[in-house]
Amino acid sequence: MQIGVPKEIKNNESRVGMTPAGVFELIKNNHTVYVQKDAGFGSGFFDEDYKDVGATVLDTIEEVYAAADMIVKVKEPIAEEYPLIKSHHVVFTYFHFASSEVLTKAMLKSEAVCIAYETVEDKDGSLPLLTPMSEVAGRMAIQQGAKYLEKPIKGRGVLLGGVPGVPPGKVLVLGAGIVGIQAAKMAAGLGAHVTIMDINMKQLRYVNDVMPSHVVTEFSSEYNIRKRIKDHDLIIGGVLVKGAKAPKLITRDMLKDMRPGTVLVDVAVDQGGCIETTKATTHEDPTFIIDDVVHYCVANMPGAVPYTSTLALTNVTLPYVLRLANEGWENACAKDETLAKGLNVVKGKIVYEEIAEAFNWSVDAM
Ligand SMILES: NC(=O)c1ccc[n+]([C@@H]2O[C@H](COP(=O)([O-])OP(=O)(O)OC[C@H]3O[C@@H](n4cnc5c(N)ncnc54)[C@H](O)[C@@H]3O)[C@@H](O)[C@H]2O)c1
Repeated sequence: MQIGVPKEIKNNESRVGMTPAGVFELIKNNHTVYVQKDAGFGSGFFDEDYKDVGATVLDTIEEVYAAADMIVKVKEPIAEEYPLIKSHHVVFTYFHFASSEVLTKAMLKSEAVCIAYETVEDKDGSLPLLTPMSEVAGRMAIQQGAKYLEKPIKGRGVLLGGVPGVPPGKVLVLGAGIVGIQAAKMAAGLGAHVTIMDINMKQLRYVNDVMPSHVVTEFSSEYNIRKRIKDHDLIIGGVLVKGAKAPKLITRDMLKDMRPGTVLVDVAVDQGGCIETTKATTHEDPTFIIDDVVHYCVANMPGAVPYTSTLALTNVTLPYVLRLANEGWENACAKDETLAKGLNVVKGKIVYEEIAEAFNWSVDAM
């Protein structure tokens, strides 16, 4: 198969869909790989590294899309890429369709096969291709939140760990999944007081078992959230309802109950956000303020740490890329239920129910 690895063109996105080690495996399996010039540069991989393992390096994104049957990338295609995607393409990347009707319509129109990393799902319900990026984003959420709590960048001026004689800051984590647990772990490591909420008791039991005693679990309800936001300094949104828009757990009217300089990090922004006032931001301009509350809503947080993120992502995507390349998408998905769950939009049809539901589209779109 002809496989294309374009350079990511989303703002401040330096990850790349495949490392030279991955390209090496594909070429060993008799595939041809086209890598766009400088595609790996931001992640520490040079064109020479790709050439050394047998890839063809092409100058432009247009050439990569034109040469390839399968495109392996990181982020959802942005408007400039829509016209490059054709009906013969299999596109394997993060899509987050439920948060963008424009993207969904563009991919339906392209008639390509769109396999979304974020909905590839194991039998136990875990999401193996989302996990490493959630691990990165969960850990980063505290790093970023701690920074934006500083006064010169409009935060409350609270040091999360406190100091002897001064109590630590308080962190509220919504969702005790991958993002939530990693965030709680980092916040606890800094010495902050952490409250973590979920509606899944199994998750709360697990957190309660493994975390130190300054991480407190609480069932997620509007009543409990309204109570906690009043005195927590940093609030992390890490909820997920698979393939659907995130539930709005923090509504506009709640902001006035928070103290000025409270920081909200809505990691769930890629699924529409779990905070009503969330709107996606970029690493270039990551925050905005409403009612004196700082919002950090970067939709591609792991993009800021591409060295770590590219390796973490490609560790888990490569086995699926190999299967798709070796067997073709139809056979590979027929044989592997986990991979088949990644099929979102196929040849002009939505095949993942929650996407149609997110836009209130009728079943005709499916
Ligand atoms: N912004 C970024 O750069 C970035 C990076 C990685 C992941 N994400 C996003 O972060 C979100 C979380 O991902 P994850 O891997 O941790 O998911 P996950 O499935 O591991 O965890 C989500 C948790 O949310 C809980 N939940 C659902 N409804 C809830 C509610 N009403 N109250 C409290 N908890 C609730 C679920 O029970 C689950 O435990 C996703 O939207 C994901 O796409 C964003």
